[in-house]
Amino acid sequence: MHEFSYKGSDFFCEGIKVSDLALRFGTPLYVYSYKTLTDHFLKLQSAFREIDPLICFSVKANSNLSVLKALVDKGAGLDIVSGGELFRAKKAGCPLSKIVYASVGKTDKEIEDAVSSGILFFNVESLPELENINRIAGRLGKTVKVALRINPDVEAKTHKFITTGKITNKFGIDFKTAGGIIALRKRFRHALIAGLHIHIGSQITESGPFLAAIKKITVFISRLKDQGVPIEYLNIGGGLGIIYSRETPQTAAEFASKILPLLRNSGLKIIMEPGRFIVGSAGILVARVLYVKKTPLKKFVIVDGAMNDLIRPALYDAHHEIVPLHRSKRERQKVDIVGPICESGDFLAKGRFVQSVRAGEYIAVMSAGAYGFSMSSNYNSRPRAAEIMVRGKEVILIGRRETYDDLIDREEIAV
Ligand SMILES: Cc1ncc(COP(=O)(O)O)c(C=O)c1O
Repeated sequence: MHEFSYKGSDFFCEGIKVSDLALRFGTPLYVYSYKTLTDHFLKLQSAFREIDPLICFSVKANSNLSVLKALVDKGAGLDIVSGGELFRAKKAGCPLSKIVYASVGKTDKEIEDAVSSGILFFNVESLPELENINRIAGRLGKTVKVALRINPDVEAKTHKFITTGKITNKFGIDFKTAGGIIALRKRFRHALIAGLHIHIGSQITESGPFLAAIKKITVFISRLKDQGVPIEYLNIGGGLGIIYSRETPQTAAEFASKILPLLRNSGLKIIMEPGRFIVGSAGILVARVLYVKKTPLKKFVIVDGAMNDLIRPALYDAHHEIVPLHRSKRERQKVDIVGPICESGDFLAKGRFVQSVRAGEYIAVMSAGAYGFSMSSNYNSRPRAAEIMVRGKEVILIGRRETYDDLIDREEIAV
């Protein structure tokens, strides 16, 4: 459920007409619904209430400070993957005791900063990384907690670029190697192995892959227990899918009803790292039609939003519903909706039947809240879009549009 819908012929976000935002702030424009964002977090929290998990929103999905703050205020922790995300998490006021840090390639500087800050724990993805964290924490006179990220080798049934729990992926550690590392755990006096972590992929719409992975890891934890190895935390990652087109993903309650039987008597502190589920349908990208171009074979609707603003269609062939901000009884036409960037991969939709639109009209690209702005770039020297949060009838600018000066801010003419 989300708070974007037509009232009469105009498209609204909560109590605000979206075309008014487009006129006021220009396009391309990201618009987020505060209610949708926080509701999704609260639904997950409520579904899992009986085990009281720490829900660490995955910052990579949407790293805007106001998005993070809105969730932190509701009790969320944050899942980070870089020094930059740690910086953001601190700026958003996230308690350090609610920050978990994954990534296959943490640098010494990133590890140092996170150790000094006192985050909850690192999700560790290899033996050399564990040795490095142990060495750096030792040098700093600290002891940190870590969770080994296990690669459970399960099929996530999602796009191959967002599958992360197969043994051929770069992520995590296989069970056998993890067992070997745990056997040597006393060697790591400054990096205590306190938990295990899995994250098998993203946009997973069925419970099967989660169940398979959690079953494997809970069996592994029981075996460790039998050997006298105490495991305090189990981080079950993120990955919950949302509706982009005709998917029928699980609700938070359905997901909980499947997963809870595996976790409720485990005695483990459970961490979750959802990103897309919380913010995906809480955001849209608004763009303006620049031209409608007919070629002998096709019709192109050329808009001012492009792959630099939303790369998911180009990167994953992802489907996003596209709707006009003003709907009327016009014929529907099959079109490609494309941006101005000099790449044939620059499209928002291909071969899509949409209400015919004219230059100057606005469209909304739906479910663009996750991996939208956070994956945006300045390709073709396009300033990044502005970001607006709507809360009821309140309109808050949470990210100003970049200027041309921003584009060259860090550069020098030095030759
Ligand atoms: C370690 C980790 N946790 C959580 C997430 C969030 O995934 P999602 O947005 O699918 O919930 C990701 C996404 O790539 C991730 O890599």
